[in-house]
Amino acid sequence: MVSVTFEGLPLDIKPGQTVLAACEAAGIFLESSCRSGVCQTCLVQAVEGPVPEIAQAGLSPALATQGYLMSCMCVPAAPMKIIRQGQARQRVEVAVQSIGRLSSSVVRLRLEPLSPFSYRAGQFLGLVAPGGLIRSYSLASLPERDSFLELHIRLIPGGRMSDFIEKQLEIGDRLYVQGPSGTCCYDGISPDQHIVLAGTGTGLAPLWAIAQDALSRDHKAPIRLYHGALNASGLYLVDDLVRLARENPTFTYTHCIRDGDDTTSGDLAEAVTHAGTELTKTDYFLCGDPDLVRRMKRSLFLSGIRLDRIRSDAFVPAAAG
Ligand SMILES: Cc1cc2nc3c(=O)[nH]c(=O)nc-3n(C[C@H](O)[C@H](O)[C@H](O)COP(=O)(O)OP(=O)(O)OC[C@H]3O[C@@H](n4cnc5c(N)ncnc54)[C@H](O)[C@@H]3O)c2cc1C
Ligand code: FES
Repeated sequence: MVSVTFEGLPLDIKPGQTVLAACEAAGIFLESSCRSGVCQTCLVQAVEGPVPEIAQAGLSPALATQGYLMSCMCVPAAPMKIIRQGQARQRVEVAVQSIGRLSSSVVRLRLEPLSPFSYRAGQFLGLVAPGGLIRSYSLASLPERDSFLELHIRLIPGGRMSDFIEKQLEIGDRLYVQGPSGTCCYDGISPDQHIVLAGTGTGLAPLWAIAQDALSRDHKAPIRLYHGALNASGLYLVDDLVRLARENPTFTYTHCIRDGDDTTSGDLAEAVTHAGTELTKTDYFLCGDPDLVRRMKRSLFLSGIRLDRIRSDAFVPAAAG
C-alpha cells in the first residue's frame, strides 16, 4: 500500500482508489461536485511526493507548480503528503443583485461581489448555496465593464441548485462564490487568429463573454459564434447577438436548431467542423453539453485541428451523492 498522509493523518488508500474517496472513507469531508476532473471543486495541495499528471490536467500552471491537484482524479502511485488547499482560490461573499429570465428555463443571475473577485471573461466559478451545496457556472460578464458577476443558469427539474434558485433565492440574499477556474477565455489568442465559439444551451454564457471580450480588445480576424438548441425555445439572447453582429462586421452569429425544419436547422458539430475556412489559423471554444463538446472536439481533431487550438468547458453534472 502506498503511504499517503492527509493533514498529517495516514490515509488507507486501496489500489486504484482516489484521494477523495479515501478521505471520505476515513470520514474527512472534502468539497466535490463533478468527481471527474472538470470543476476543480476538490482541490487539495501536495506538499511532498509526485502528483499524477491526470490530477492536474486543466489546472493553471501557477496552481500546478504549487502542487495543487484534483483529489477526485488523484490515484497515488508513490508516497505523498497532502494538505487542504490554502489560498489557491478566492472565496468571496456576494449579494444577489437581480434574478431574471432569459428564456422559460434559463435564469440570469447577477451577483454583486462584496470584496474583489478577479476573473477572466468566460471562466467559471463555484456557486456555494447555504448548507455548502456547490455547482459550477460560467461567467457571462466582463470584469473590466461589469460591476456584477453574471451567470446563466438552466433550471433542471428536480435539480438541487436549480430548485434553490427557482424557489428560495431572493434579491439581497448573500451567497459565496469561489474560483475562478478554467481556460475558456481570450487570454493568449492572437488578434489575427480566427475564432469559432460553439455551444449548446447555457454554454452560450462563456461564449457571449469571450466574444465581447475579444471585440473590446480589438480582435481583427473573424469571430463566428454558433449556438445550438434542440428547438427554438432553447435559444436566448438572440436580439443581443444579432445586434452585436450588426455593430461589428467581423462578428457573425448562427443558431443551429436540431429539431427544426427551416433554414436554421442543422447539426452543431457539423456546422462547427466546417466553420473555419482557414483551419490552421482558427482557435475554437466549445462549451455546454458534455457529449456534444466531446463530439465537436473529436470531429475537429479528425479534421486536422491541433488539440491545443481547442479550449472547452463541458458542463458535466455533479456526481450523485
Ligand atoms: C465547468 C462547468 C461549467 C458549468 N457552467 C454552467 C452554466 O454556465 N450554466 C448552467 O446552467 N450550468 C452549468 N454547469 C452545470 C451546473 O454546474 C449544474 O450541473 C447544473 O446547474 C445542475 O445542477 P443542479 O444542482 O440544479 O442539479 P443536480 O441536483 O446536480 O442534478 C439533478 C439531476 O439532474 C441531472 N442533470 C444535471 N444537469 C443536467 C443536464 N444539463 N441535463 C440533464 N440532466 C441533468 C443530474 O444528473 C441529476 O440526476 C456547468 C458545469 C461545469 C462542470
Ligand atoms: S474536479 Fe474533482 S470534483 Fe470536480
